[in-house]
Amino acid sequence: MFVAGNWKSNKSFNEAKEFANVMSAMSAMPEGVEVMVAPPTPYLAAMGQLEWPCRLGAQNVSATGPGAQTGEYTAEMLAGCGVQDVIVGHSERRDGHGEDDEAVAEKVNRVLEAGLRVVFCCGESLQDRQTDVHFDKVLRQMGSGILHLPVELLDRVVVAYEPIWAIGTGLTATAEQAQEMHAAIRGWLREAYDESTASRIPLLYGGSCKPGNADELFACADVDGGLIGGAALDPESFRAIVDAAGRVAATRMHVDTNS
Ligand code: 13P
Repeated sequence: MFVAGNWKSNKSFNEAKEFANVMSAMSAMPEGVEVMVAPPTPYLAAMGQLEWPCRLGAQNVSATGPGAQTGEYTAEMLAGCGVQDVIVGHSERRDGHGEDDEAVAEKVNRVLEAGLRVVFCCGESLQDRQTDVHFDKVLRQMGSGILHLPVELLDRVVVAYEPIWAIGTGLTATAEQAQEMHAAIRGWLREAYDESTASRIPLLYGGSCKPGNADELFACADVDGGLIGGAALDPESFRAIVDAAGRVAATRMHVDTNS
């Protein structure tokens, strides 16, 4: 299981460091759960120096390489600051900052070339769902962002399904809605690659996931964790979601050992 916090443009630098302190003072993270936090970009270098029980994520990366690109930052620069995972293709970047499929695919490439892991986001709008094109939309995003990758790079790909209508709205996909989309994504990966690759890639759900609904969402067979926005800002609620993932991880490990 994998639980990732995306802080978006929230928290002062001091609040970010305080969060890391509180996380460090907590009991060990549950077995079988990887935990990642993606703070705002200006904090990454400093947070990469801290000892705390979370992988360090970036919320964005440039599609460009080094050189005369004022204001941009390369995947190698993120790696040099201790970043391990990079979120690419979040709907707030696709829709709010004009990132098209081509730019998203280029960012995926840059992240993987730098040796980092990519958290590739996909998801449909409310209109897509109401007009019943949500599966087409998400699988098309998978095709344009991932399909060009050779299978050996897929070990460093995590997919996050985030229905746009559920992000920051308090509306959550039901467990059934999450599971059916995750199963479709898993099926797409199986066809594009192979069974073992498809079963290894973590599929995260994002969109108003919180302590009160995390158990139900994570219990879905094809949900391997969450990409958490608002509920990742408070260490206690983030930890409660991590613990929900821990309960599911324990069950899955039990099933593995007995099969
Ligand atoms: P919320 O959990 O605030 O809905 O945000 C989800 C998200 O966009 C994470 O990337």
